[in-house]
Amino acid sequence: MMTGIQYLHGFLRWVVLVLLLLSIVKAFSGMSAGRNFSKGDMKRGLFTMISLHIQLVLGFILYFGKGWSSMLGNADAMANTVMRFFSLEHMATMLIAVILGTLGHSLSKRASDDRIKFKRQAIWFTVSLVLILSSIPWPFRAGFEAYGWW
Ligand code: HEM
Repeated sequence: MMTGIQYLHGFLRWVVLVLLLLSIVKAFSGMSAGRNFSKGDMKRGLFTMISLHIQLVLGFILYFGKGWSSMLGNADAMANTVMRFFSLEHMATMLIAVILGTLGHSLSKRASDDRIKFKRQAIWFTVSLVLILSSIPWPFRAGFEAYGWW
């Protein structure tokens, strides 16, 4: 069960990355071209936010289900790169990234001006993407060889 959720969480990173990238490119291009903010632009932002929320739920199931939560604050665990990463760094950074991504969609939805809608998506989704890229356990990071591209 946990292994399946771990694979799903690992695979869904690509969905999150593709949706964030697409939303950012469309938001910047819409802003510079002075395009109208369409229903499609709103839906893209919504699906981006939903993909982030799914990762959040799966991530917390793994966090509590696989015992990472109990390592938080333990001095020996904090001295270990991988244990510190999953029990603290990955959890906290991704949580912030999901909150910022959520702001990207919800603040954009609330704006009345189309240019501001694009601008809010562009800014918040970009910051969220940078945090996510910095906090994925890429297999080329020292100590993370066991975490794959799937
Ligand atoms: C957009 C958000 C997120 C992305 C893109 C993401 C991505 C990933 C990736 C790629 C892995 C490695 C999977 C593997 O190859 O085994 C992973 C592992 C993990 N993630 Fe996330 N994650 C996100 C959010 C979160 C959140 C909010 C939590 C909450 C605590 C979380 C908890 C975990 C845990 C505990 C593992 C380790 C699983 C294990 O080996 O036991 N993730 N994550």
